[in-house]
Amino acid sequence: MNNTDIIDLLNKDIEAEHAAIIQYLIHSYSMGEGELACEIEAISREEMRHLDFLAEAVVALGGTPSFERGAMRPEGNGVASWLENDVLAEEEAIAMYEEHIRLIDDPGIKNLLARILSDEKSHHGDFRHFVQSAEKQGLKDVRGNRQDRITEILDWSIEHEYTVILQYLLHSYLAPNEKMKHEMEDQAINEMQHLGWLSEKIVSRGGSPKIEHSEIDRSTKPLGMLRADIAVEKQVASQYDRAAKEISDPGLKKLLTRIRDHELYHVKVFTDLKKGLEEN
Ligand SMILES: [Fe+2]
Ligand SMILES: [Fe+2]
Ligand SMILES: [Fe+2]
Repeated sequence: MNNTDIIDLLNKDIEAEHAAIIQYLIHSYSMGEGELACEIEAISREEMRHLDFLAEAVVALGGTPSFERGAMRPEGNGVASWLENDVLAEEEAIAMYEEHIRLIDDPGIKNLLARILSDEKSHHGDFRHFVQSAEKQGLKDVRGNRQDRITEILDWSIEHEYTVILQYLLHSYLAPNEKMKHEMEDQAINEMQHLGWLSEKIVSRGGSPKIEHSEIDRSTKPLGMLRADIAVEKQVASQYDRAAKEISDPGLKKLLTRIRDHELYHVKVFTDLKKGLEEN
């Protein structure tokens, strides 16, 4: 099998991991705070690590990681049925990795996929167990369909955060040096925190987070990437600033102000990176 074929298979794996990450996050946010929600979020974080390993492997083979999202099954009739969908997702992941391990002969990639496969087997067992505990605890969908000015603000915030997580990860994989790679990855992790805070907030206010993203920047040159990243941070920092001033709820005001300050920090980090590249 040549590199192009291996890259195609790994990109299929990345797309499936992406779908699992979001499906599990939606389930975790939608059952309200609690032990089970935390455990599911932890599994989602393991899928993020898988995505990262796979993306690095694609880059090492000379490819570009895919940021398309595979098919999800987020809906179902209550918490136990969501978790049954998660069991199915793990079964599909196991079958996919077993097939890809069979098809690929590169020993390094085979090892990586075998390592991920063993996690998926463990997740499969976890989710089967979670179906039972959700039934026992009588866990319910805690989302509502509240629609007001604040949910509107939280909706665009979540859409923005999801978009930049993908954008900064992509830019970290395409970065020309370790410093930029590391900074882009750090800011992506910070945006993941924002996504979590905002999603929990929307649910606690009786709304429902739609985890969808908009167009991500596809620049291939580092200066173009950083220009796009600086522009989006400046714009969103002023949006958060306006929203924080408009909102009277003190907790939400504090949250949006804190996120705004992070975004202003991101502007500085990206501006420094850009200066560094221009000087070289
Ligand atoms: Fe998994
Ligand atoms: Fe953010
Ligand atoms: Fe940011």
